[in-house]
Amino acid sequence: MNWKGRKVLVTGGASFIGSHLVDALVERGASVRVADDFSSGKKENLRPHLEAGLVELIRGDLKDSKTVKKAIRGSEIVFHLAAAHGGRGYVDLHQAACATNFLLDGLVFQACLQAKVKKVVYASSGCVYPNFLQADPKKILFLKEKMAGPPCDSDNMYGWAKLMGEMALRAYHKDWKMKSVSLRYFTVYGQRGHENHAVIAMIARAFIRQDPFVVWGNGNQIRNWTHVSDIVRGTLLAAEKVDDATAINLGTMERTRVIDAVREVLRHTGHKAKIELHPEMPTGPMNRVADNALARKLLGWKPKVRFMDGLRKTIDWYFSAKDPKLVRRTLEKRLTER
Ligand SMILES: NC(=O)c1ccc[n+]([C@@H]2O[C@H](COP(=O)([O-])OP(=O)(O)OC[C@H]3O[C@@H](n4cnc5c(N)ncnc54)[C@H](O)[C@@H]3O)[C@@H](O)[C@H]2O)c1
Repeated sequence: MNWKGRKVLVTGGASFIGSHLVDALVERGASVRVADDFSSGKKENLRPHLEAGLVELIRGDLKDSKTVKKAIRGSEIVFHLAAAHGGRGYVDLHQAACATNFLLDGLVFQACLQAKVKKVVYASSGCVYPNFLQADPKKILFLKEKMAGPPCDSDNMYGWAKLMGEMALRAYHKDWKMKSVSLRYFTVYGQRGHENHAVIAMIARAFIRQDPFVVWGNGNQIRNWTHVSDIVRGTLLAAEKVDDATAINLGTMERTRVIDAVREVLRHTGHKAKIELHPEMPTGPMNRVADNALARKLLGWKPKVRFMDGLRKTIDWYFSAKDPKLVRRTLEKRLTER
């Protein structure tokens, strides 16, 4: 698809993933508008584009219908990434805040329908999958799209809201022909990531030379951390190729244990600390890894960044960009907040 001059809106475009998506859209010549309330997104993530006048910014809460209408007016394609979202601590401890996503998604989808937007691209999540499937770390499990349910048992209010968002889009497509695609992102990491997600939290602990080095859980949790550049590439391909509200996994099929990621962080940073496991802290499911066959088939997408390579790059970014005094002062709070 030729993105040049296309009018796109990125809700939550000041976020970690949102800002990388904006970079890619600007690079392709799209006419980009961002709507964000900066509840977790940062203006500095967009600074070069704002300074160059390449991105229009609407600052406001998309739970307000007037703001939503203003943001969507004139947009051909809407990438909907705005959400009350955080890492494991946030998702476990902030049910009411995550419940506001039902309202946010509902208003955005309704306004897209009314404004006759050509396509909605929805940032869904691996959190839609039933928790009961993901309990045994010894099982070699790859989550396929159809395993989201029924029976459904999504991950906290956050996961239920994403599942309902997907289902709403499927109904909008069936009954009202609104085109869309939902992308189930799996534990994304990379430059501009936030400490409330495990990979950045590990890096931050090494950065401030934490000793003993705290690890939430018993370290055996398995994840398929996926680099933000792969996520952005998949998101653009989906915007180009899928119309019928299909939900597609975007995630690597690498199975990495938390403890192995921690050991690599310690090795790469030269930090020799005693690892202290905290099984009482939130861990989420023990075994969450995507099957990405559908993305390969429908999008021709496969991840390019191997986890250990992406991890080392992310460590190097964090160490070059952050201030140790600030990280020391704010880390505990940032682990569970946005
Ligand atoms: N990071 C991950 O591992 C991951 C995994 C699965 C899905 N996702 C989804 O991807 C999207 C982006 O997540 P992220 O990790 O980049 O960071 P994030 O959670 O910080 O992104 C959310 C963005 O939406 C904005 N926002 C929140 N509520 C808003 C509102 N009411 N009005 C306007 N703006 C609002 C925030 O300021 C922020 O910029 C989210 O929808 C998230 O649920 C992320």
